[in-house]
Amino acid sequence: MARDARIPEEARPTTEKVQSIFSTIAPEYDRFNKLSSLGIDRSWRRRTVKAARITRSSHVLDLAAGTGDLTMAIARLGQPKSILSTDFVPEMLEVGKAKAADYDGPTEIGFSVVDAQDLPFADESYDVVTVGFGVRNLPDRAANFREVHRVLKPGGRYVVLEFSRPPFAPFRALYHFYIRTVIPALGGKLTGDRPAFEYLNKSIEAFPGQVALAGELHKAGFGEVTWRNLTFGIVAVHVAVK
Ligand SMILES: C[S@@+](CC[C@H](N)C(=O)[O-])C[C@H]1O[C@@H](n2cnc3c(N)ncnc32)[C@H](O)[C@@H]1O
Repeated sequence: MARDARIPEEARPTTEKVQSIFSTIAPEYDRFNKLSSLGIDRSWRRRTVKAARITRSSHVLDLAAGTGDLTMAIARLGQPKSILSTDFVPEMLEVGKAKAADYDGPTEIGFSVVDAQDLPFADESYDVVTVGFGVRNLPDRAANFREVHRVLKPGGRYVVLEFSRPPFAPFRALYHFYIRTVIPALGGKLTGDRPAFEYLNKSIEAFPGQVALAGELHKAGFGEVTWRNLTFGIVAVHVAVK
């Protein structure tokens, strides 16, 4: 992906920066998530599972799966045949593995250390690919979109849950104030790594809005791209169909 000159250097993801942040905050990631989103993240994940239109025969790939909350929501609510939970930070996946140990549903759950920009899977091998709060941290989003398009079967769905741009300007200003102040303070307190959370909030503000992200997905070859705003557009779920 060409470097976007509008993104300030401190908001730009690099592999080293992102791996270092998530390997450090892995043990406290879930607690931070629940507190900072006031628990709303669970309903965002439920809506994401619904948008994926999973069936009992689906093979699902969850990218940048971190501590596995979206993976587990998919296994519990969507009950596909299989789901592979992947991330390039093993410390995050270890937390997810512990959650899967308590799962007693029908879905086969696997884990693998994978870079979402370079997928070690055959063409047309998945029915659904999901990513929750992951594409924002990719240095090369276009590579990820191309790779997902390649590994999806024809008609397969790429479901992207990500922070987005609340369309109503006064609400957006309030929300940006929240992420500039509360998020670094709370994240710093929980993990001792305040700069990591300053980066995370800057990356949220620098991330493309709903229309621009849909345009990038189209450019990667997806035919139909739709999205739905959740919680006034704080997050959006994009669905790109191959
Ligand atoms: C904010 S967490 C989201 C975790 C989880 N999907 C969720 O919904 O809570 C972002 C995750 O993306 C992972 N990540 C970032 N860049 C990645 C890449 N290039 N390949 C794989 N995982 C990546 C990080 O390691 C981290 O676990």
